[in-house]
Amino acid sequence: MKNIDSKSHVRGESVYLDDIPLVHGTLFACAFDSPVAHGKLKSVDTTEAEKSEGVIRVITAKDLIGENQIGGIIPDEPLLADDEVHFQGMPIAIVLAESEVLARKAAKKITADIEQLEPVTDPRIAAANNDLIVPPKKFKLGDTDAAFIRCEHVFEGRADINGQEHLYIETQGAYATPTENGGLRVYSSTQGPTAVQRAVCRVTGLAMHEVEVDVQRLGGGFGGKEDQANAWAAICAVGAQLTKRPVKYALHRMEDMRMTGKRHPYSADYKIGIGEDLKIFAYEATFYQNAGASADLSPPVLERTLFHCTNSYFIPNVTATAYSCRTNLPPNTAFRGFGGPQGMFVIESAIAHAAEKLGVPAWDIQQANLIDSGDEFPYGQIAESDAITTWTQGDGMFDFARLQEKADEFNVSSKYFKKGVAMMPVCFGISFTKTPMNQARSLVHVYTDGSIAVSTGAVEMGQGVNTKIAQVAASMFGLPIEAVRLHTTNTLRIANTSPTAASAAADLNGKATQMACDAIRERLFEVAKPLVEAENTADLSLDDGFVYRNGERTSLDWKTLVMDAHLQRVNLSEHAHYATPGINFDWETARGHPFAYHGYGTAIVGVTVDCLRGRYEIDYVKCCHDFGSSMNTSVDHGQIEGGIVQGIGWMTIEEVFYDADGKLRSNALSTYKVPDIYSVPKEIAILPLETDRENLAVFNSKAVGEPPLMYGIGAYFAIRNAIKAFKKICPPDVGAAADHAVLSFDAPFTAEKVLMNLYETADG
Ligand code: MTE
Ligand code: HPA
Ligand code: MOS
Repeated sequence: MKNIDSKSHVRGESVYLDDIPLVHGTLFACAFDSPVAHGKLKSVDTTEAEKSEGVIRVITAKDLIGENQIGGIIPDEPLLADDEVHFQGMPIAIVLAESEVLARKAAKKITADIEQLEPVTDPRIAAANNDLIVPPKKFKLGDTDAAFIRCEHVFEGRADINGQEHLYIETQGAYATPTENGGLRVYSSTQGPTAVQRAVCRVTGLAMHEVEVDVQRLGGGFGGKEDQANAWAAICAVGAQLTKRPVKYALHRMEDMRMTGKRHPYSADYKIGIGEDLKIFAYEATFYQNAGASADLSPPVLERTLFHCTNSYFIPNVTATAYSCRTNLPPNTAFRGFGGPQGMFVIESAIAHAAEKLGVPAWDIQQANLIDSGDEFPYGQIAESDAITTWTQGDGMFDFARLQEKADEFNVSSKYFKKGVAMMPVCFGISFTKTPMNQARSLVHVYTDGSIAVSTGAVEMGQGVNTKIAQVAASMFGLPIEAVRLHTTNTLRIANTSPTAASAAADLNGKATQMACDAIRERLFEVAKPLVEAENTADLSLDDGFVYRNGERTSLDWKTLVMDAHLQRVNLSEHAHYATPGINFDWETARGHPFAYHGYGTAIVGVTVDCLRGRYEIDYVKCCHDFGSSMNTSVDHGQIEGGIVQGIGWMTIEEVFYDADGKLRSNALSTYKVPDIYSVPKEIAILPLETDRENLAVFNSKAVGEPPLMYGIGAYFAIRNAIKAFKKICPPDVGAAADHAVLSFDAPFTAEKVLMNLYETADG
């Protein structure tokens, strides 16, 4: 079944924020943002901008009626800079003008007197200064100090991971219109309508029941709009409140790249202890997260780094410590994987390091340590499934050893092109790690013509959540999907929503929809029971638009049943609430059962590196992925392909670059490369692992939004293996490589870095 949006997308008829018809009198906002990364804001001069053509008003911090604060987790983020600027791109003033062009023109005329302060961009320096967003977080399983003493081999090193620009096709934006009695309606391109509502209320001083937030769909979010859509909505809301006119702000690409945060860069130290049997006995990691200038979502991102620091492996002794370090960059934020990918990159680096020193292929170590059901994660949850099955089934299908042999054969005969292969197992926990966020609501109306309207807290951003929810409702009522229509995500219909994030939107909102449909269906069965002369409602079912009794079709059709029910004054609407059962986590002890379940998978990635030029191609990504039981294979395969390409982009060509002054140099599509049709893998093969064991996923269809991104990490290590083949460092059949230096672990592996690595000598 295709994504229900596919036709309107292709025809260009899908409605995004910028397509909303404008109300007469709409003003356009444009921010004047800090030209420097750190400084004391002494004064702002807006006089020239105020005199500029078409300008209605210029707003600075002192104009706000409510609080100048949008920090969701920690109140450390002013909407508009007041006495200090913390990052280049921090909004200082807002111009409101009659047109977009005039607003932008006027914003250029604003000047600010800023006494510059030394910017910090390196998280290790921030940590040394003890400039942390929250106190350090720690996970501990077993006793690493004692364990390392007993390990035959111990290796230590460092891994660095860069950030990633979200590059959603639709940039950030919002449109606020005044409603009766001082209220506001805000259209926003956000993953978190309630987060926007809260931020708007804070800066305007309005109560939540006075503010309606409405979201049709996003042209991509990828985490970048979980929290960071708030600022633009708040700016429009403040403008609308002060002028009593509608205000719209849709960011230009370069504004968006400069002013918004990205995936968190991390720097990490690791120590890994391994026995003769290649079992990892002890692992220690220290993570320095580059949080940027304010907290945003950095604390939960940091926590998820810890949750995933051992990836798919069972390690009996683990100590992991994580620091969220304040720097003068835009606040970094959620990005597909939410800190998990960074944690996984570090353990994969540690394993590659150990393999290199021991003269064994990394995958021998990976395979020897895959988590099994019954094993304990470092946070106390017991694995219910295992990481072994996707590995063995993938091997059965794709023959990993043969793929490695093919690469080795190629490398013998090819001098300047080398192939590299790497395995990438992935284990990802599904649920918000903050337990209270795992709740959702759904409002289902059955109309008297038999058609069905569904509203939930889920935001459609291309991931197909609306298609899955429509499938749930259609299947509960035994109707074709056309009978169901998903409506906008709206805070008046669905209140107090969690953001669409953590890959959990289809599970949470789908389950709530299932519950709502079930309640209506039960009432309809009561109506049908006498009409079809059934003894129990349990004998009844719905299919093909008819009522079935004991599996046999009756003459009672859906539309007649619905109308009969209505005439009998039976309620045809339901508002249901779902909360994931059985989950908990206690940060006091750093133990609990935070995840409803885990998603597993194993990928093998093959690349070819051009060793004269440093360029590379991704030959294939073949994976065995645990779907539980996919309710929509075309949507799920799309998520896997997209996730893989996005993960590969992060690990290879995408290079976020801030200079020492904290200025973003990769600030446009000419200087920031994302995967295009030429850089996607030549082949993506997906072997579904279909299991019928019970899980907490909707219709047993496991969440698939984030986990595949992490297959992309395999591309980094495959490139690395190709480089080693060229340099003849430690090919799998040569043992004693112990005195070779380990190539640094420093993602992304841009062509430039590949070239330098190819021609650096082993001892540096
Ligand atoms: N797919 C598309 N096309 N666009 C997106 O913005 N976001 C990803 C993933 N897949 C995203 C996407 C992220 S970060 C998450 S958390 C999940 O979708 C959220 O949606 P779900 O919970 O419905 O899987
Ligand atoms: N994942 C994604 N987003 C989140 C989470 C999480 O675990 N917690 C809070 N926001
Ligand atoms: Mo996704 S990073 O949880 O929005």
